[in-house]
Amino acid sequence: MTPAAYVHLDLEAVRHNLAQAKRYAPNNKIMAVIKANGYGHGITRVAKALEQADGLAVARVDEGVRLRKAGFTQPITVLQGFVCIDELQLMLQHQLDAVIHTPQQISLLQQQTAPETALSIWLKMDTGMNRLGFKGADFNAAYQQLLNCALVKQPINLITHFANADDLLDDKTRKQIDLFNDAVQGYPGQRSIANSAGIIGWPNVVSDWVRPGLMLYGCSPFAGKTGADFGLRPAMSLHSRLIAVKNVAAGETVGYSGTWQCQTDTRLGVISIGYGDGYHRHTKAGAPVLVNGQRVPLIGRVSMDMITVDLNSQPGAQPGDPVTLWGDGLPVEEIARHADTIPYTLLCGITQRVQIVEQ
Ligand SMILES: Cc1ncc(COP(=O)(O)O)c(C=O)c1O
Repeated sequence: MTPAAYVHLDLEAVRHNLAQAKRYAPNNKIMAVIKANGYGHGITRVAKALEQADGLAVARVDEGVRLRKAGFTQPITVLQGFVCIDELQLMLQHQLDAVIHTPQQISLLQQQTAPETALSIWLKMDTGMNRLGFKGADFNAAYQQLLNCALVKQPINLITHFANADDLLDDKTRKQIDLFNDAVQGYPGQRSIANSAGIIGWPNVVSDWVRPGLMLYGCSPFAGKTGADFGLRPAMSLHSRLIAVKNVAAGETVGYSGTWQCQTDTRLGVISIGYGDGYHRHTKAGAPVLVNGQRVPLIGRVSMDMITVDLNSQPGAQPGDPVTLWGDGLPVEEIARHADTIPYTLLCGITQRVQIVEQ
């Protein structure tokens, strides 16, 4: 029996997308970004599919520890680094690499004067994202302090993050690249700059490591495009089924707050999927849904467990018929547009009750 609502994961697609990232960045090592539960695909599942990557990256220490406990041995970078001594100890114990972005982290490192082991670090430069990292002279000062830290494995690696790389017309990215390259000139460590948009859209960035996230799951980081435009294959599709079909007379409203009023007599389908599964509540009426492989429009509000669609183009549809919310023939990027969001949110937002079916 198929589950009521399920995600189909194509791990072969993840492997394909990693190979495609390598084609875009043939001279770089790949640090595969699998934070937020592997962008909703399951962190250990995607880590396994990405065993050909040169390293992995997560946001938080607990994500890195989970990967080590699951037996993954490749370099794992924690993009937020540690925030207290306990986290630093955990990183040392599990040999996790830390991004260093605050003076407080440097103080914690300096307190370890006779360490038994050393910590690999990435010193982060804030080149305009204004989120994590040191700017200008502070970056150089931090570098000098870290050179003298017994706990820090040398050489110090160097990292920054793009803010607007998905906008190819915005010269901020070029400025970020120049700022970073000028600052790290002559420093011996490895460099890492580009995310998915940087890898695809800014191919001439010189660095040692790239950090693809979204593209590994088959999605486009650029608005108005889909992963297929860049040779990527979607790894996740979301499915459910019709659970009721009925007639609603013209003039009647459908769903909470009566936001949808039927303009004609309507054959209405009810589908077992809702925001309690991760189907975004802000998905607007008119968003396409595949019923029996054919597009029909969403009508009314998204509820916790159900959505409603107009089946006038499919009078023969019956309870039990298969539904795809995104997947083959219906890119998640398109659904994200109808929900005024980005594909990242939809992929990460799949909830626990949705069953995962692997290929
Ligand atoms: C520091 C850093 N590097 C790389 C990535 C991967 O970005 P993307 O998923 O856009 O490829 C992220 C994701 O947010 C990030 O925070």
